[in-house]
Amino acid sequence: TKLNEYIEKLASTHQLSLDAYEYVITHRDEEAAEWLARKARDISQSIYGKSIYVRGLIEFTNICKNDCFYCGIRKDASCSRYRLDQEDILECCAEGYDLGFRTFVLQGGEDAYFNDARLCDIVSKIHTLYPDCAITLSVGERNKESYQRLFDAGASRYLLRHETADRNHYHKLHPSSMSFSHRMRCIQDLRDIGYDVGIGMMVQSPYQTAHHLAEDLKFVETFHPEMCGIGPYITAKDTPFHDQPSGSVELTLYLISILRLIYPPMLIPATTALGTLDPVGREKGVLAGANVVMPNLSPVGVRRKYQLYDNKICVGDESAQCRHCLENRMDRIGYTVVTDRGDIKLWD
Ligand code: 5AD
Ligand code: FES
Repeated sequence: TKLNEYIEKLASTHQLSLDAYEYVITHRDEEAAEWLARKARDISQSIYGKSIYVRGLIEFTNICKNDCFYCGIRKDASCSRYRLDQEDILECCAEGYDLGFRTFVLQGGEDAYFNDARLCDIVSKIHTLYPDCAITLSVGERNKESYQRLFDAGASRYLLRHETADRNHYHKLHPSSMSFSHRMRCIQDLRDIGYDVGIGMMVQSPYQTAHHLAEDLKFVETFHPEMCGIGPYITAKDTPFHDQPSGSVELTLYLISILRLIYPPMLIPATTALGTLDPVGREKGVLAGANVVMPNLSPVGVRRKYQLYDNKICVGDESAQCRHCLENRMDRIGYTVVTDRGDIKLWD
């Protein structure tokens, strides 16, 4: 069939036309998904074995100047706000280091309090205290000079999901104060500075079509990000999209497998959003080709407040519980969480 032909072509050449990507998405069936997942698992194992990289996620501020229509911590949402100070963050790192984390992801809203001086100070302290660890930032759009200062302070990776590679769709998800061009500019700046860059998109976010997803896949194919995070869109109360249905785990898994074939060494997380919609969603993610998990390292007292979407998991668990929970979950499906920075393994 045409579907099988495209899948074979993708597996051998790591690229497809935009139309072919769209076809593979719209004509999928269970059999194709199984077949793709097996290919994705195999290729992932040929590079990373059965090791799963782990990152300690520190959600250090839920204060944000932006008003993204899908996000539970958008400016106009009425959630209770918090901000961790430097001491809190360093404490999270200390706990994380003892638990075996060698990557810390500092994630937060676009909070003006964390200007370059404050954020660089935090980054350089972590860098000095834990020289064997990678520091990943996920703090949204900033100017190139700022990205450069943070890089010089010791951050070497940056997560900035593009959210959608379609300009019109981008503007249906964001207020007019935000722009697609600026988002893409930031992603390119990060690459030019030398960061390992993580991009990504939600699956079945409002107004998303198969064509939009095909554009996302084409973007990954041409940009070759070091990481691509994808998870289902999940309804978030107190947002303009509060009555829009969540996306599907099934399509997310299918896309994870396709992403693995597009760029085999790419780091692909089995996201918390997957685990939120399906009790074994993260396990399914790994079996579909993902190779990273990102357990929560935030202090338990603030976790409930970092609700990007409804019913987020892990909000009541201590960091050690989360870490061990994931270790057990991976063990049960035959994988091993490793104590490692977890750098991308480039094969060219
Ligand atoms: N559902 C799923 N993912 C979401 N994100 C934000 N809001 C939601 C939601 N309602 C994702 C975005 C963002 C990342 C930090 O979380 O893709 O980049
Ligand atoms: Fe947090 Fe399972 S990963 S409790």
